[in-house]
Amino acid sequence: MKVVFKYLKPYAFFVVISLTLLFGQVVCELSLPNLMSDIVDIGIIRSGVENITPETMMLPKEQLAEMQHDYIMRKGAEMLGITLAAAVSSILVGFMAARIASSVARKLRYDVFSKVNDFSNAEFDKFSTASLITRSTNDVQQIQNFISMGLKMMLFAPLMGTGSIIMALQKSTSLAWIIVVAVLVIVGVLGVVMVVALPKFKSLQTLVDKLNLVSREQLSGLMVIRAFGNEAYEEDRFDVANKNLTYTTRFVQRTMASLMPSISFIMSLVNIAIVWFGAKAISQATLEVGDMMAFLQYAIHIMISFLFVSMIFIMLPRASVAANRIKEILDEDLSVTDKEDAKSLENVNGRVEFKNVSFRYDEASENALSNISFTAEPGKTTAFIGSTGSGKSTLINLIPRFYDVTEGQILIDGVDVRDITVKSLRDAIGYVSQKAVLFSGTIDSNVKYGNDSENIMDAIRVAQAEDFVMSKENGLESEVAQGATNVSGGQKQRLSIARALAKKAPIYIFDDSFSALDFKTDAALRAALSEYTNNATVLIVAQRVSTIMNADKIVVLDEGRVCGIGDHKTLLNSCKEYREICESQLGEEELK
Ligand SMILES: Nc1ncnc2c1ncn2[C@@H]1O[C@H](COP(=O)(O)OP(=O)(O)OP(=O)(O)O)[C@@H](O)[C@H]1O
Ligand SMILES: [Mg+2]
Repeated sequence: MKVVFKYLKPYAFFVVISLTLLFGQVVCELSLPNLMSDIVDIGIIRSGVENITPETMMLPKEQLAEMQHDYIMRKGAEMLGITLAAAVSSILVGFMAARIASSVARKLRYDVFSKVNDFSNAEFDKFSTASLITRSTNDVQQIQNFISMGLKMMLFAPLMGTGSIIMALQKSTSLAWIIVVAVLVIVGVLGVVMVVALPKFKSLQTLVDKLNLVSREQLSGLMVIRAFGNEAYEEDRFDVANKNLTYTTRFVQRTMASLMPSISFIMSLVNIAIVWFGAKAISQATLEVGDMMAFLQYAIHIMISFLFVSMIFIMLPRASVAANRIKEILDEDLSVTDKEDAKSLENVNGRVEFKNVSFRYDEASENALSNISFTAEPGKTTAFIGSTGSGKSTLINLIPRFYDVTEGQILIDGVDVRDITVKSLRDAIGYVSQKAVLFSGTIDSNVKYGNDSENIMDAIRVAQAEDFVMSKENGLESEVAQGATNVSGGQKQRLSIARALAKKAPIYIFDDSFSALDFKTDAALRAALSEYTNNATVLIVAQRVSTIMNADKIVVLDEGRVCGIGDHKTLLNSCKEYREICESQLGEEELK
């Protein structure tokens, strides 16, 4: 919950004002039963005569009636004024509480989002996307509710409770035992509810997480689910998550719902008891009617205060679970950050060098890469080939520091990538991920993607995307739907290649980016590419030998190790693994 207080700090001024207003409200509300008691005891029963003296007893009837009228009007006006003041203060507090709570929520969501933005893949591997979404929406909502309730109740209820107890005791001590008994019973009932409902209450957030996880997975995999006719199975899976959440929510709600009637039942009993024993006291002339009525109202205030306090205790655990889940994100140590004395890369040549690099994923038992050393020169194309799972993507992803190496060093122009600011490092790299990703918007906005590059047509032409972009009615301004569902796989790949090229970076990384292209387009692209990239360092991962055959240097990977480096001809003769790949893909002619 410390997080919450930290975020409340900037609003301390408003918090203090709300609390002051609440204090005023309590004072107002506490004085009301007192005034009413005066109206009954003095105004009605004693005809408005406050101090009965022999003179007042001699007053004529008309004068007494006038005094009574005046007294009741005066006290009534006072009550009206106080009620209005209490109402205004309560409205103001409600207004401020809503403002403070929603501002805190906005700041929390902002901070969570920007923190997640700085996550490296290592951190993403730790939190599921669904959980990250729940945390920044639903969890923040819980905290918002708690703050707005808390501001209104946290101080109000205890103050009101103690104030009422003091005032009630002034009215009568002989009835005090009724309140003691009632409070004990209420605390007992609340205790039972808490013990029963709290653990379930705490688990709600995790259940929301699970539901989000299942829905997300199913919505994004809908086509596969249909193709495999697995709707029933998936519906069951959803149903389980859904039911769990429903049952738990229902259980919690039911327990809560039973609370209100129980409390109002207890209150009615208290009413009856006070009137019963009060009436006896009145008949023995030890208590006045007005005092009893005031006592009754204070008793109700006391019980309501206890109810509110307990509501806070019930909301607290869920809010604190939510706060902790948010804190987990905010406190997560970023594995990839700028060193204090990090330099920014300038006038980049683009020489990429791996020196004995080993890498192991968190939680993995074996290295994904072991002892990798090679150099990729500017103006040259360096290619990576190897069977699936051999570590090609892993290797490539170490260069923009999506992960940091476990051992060894990666150098760019002789500088360790960990000594370079992340921003300038990534600015120097045009990256095409293995899974092409486009954003909702237009073709233009996707290819430009944050770059101010004027001429993106060149990039589109080199990426062999010109024909299909131009054949669209709106050309560059054609819409790209969310998830890029309205472009084909190959078109998506070509647009993400164009996006990387438009950046005009000194280093280009293509992770298996030509796999969805037909051979002809693949060849045309490579031809155009070598001209376009000119002096840049080009790193290409490929499955097809034909894509990389002409590369200046080919690095062959097998189970995370380099098993051969050289050009096509040399490797054919020296590297068994490379020869096997070639034999499976190329004709006799090309193998010579
Ligand atoms: N985020 C991750 N966490 C743990 N292990 C991973 C992770 N990503 C990949 N691996 C493992 O690392 C190994 C290398 O994976 P990588 O994605 O680098 O292979 P690849 O050569 O790119 O394969 P492909 O040709 O299929 O793309 C695999 O055994 C894979 O299971
Ligand atoms: Mg890969």
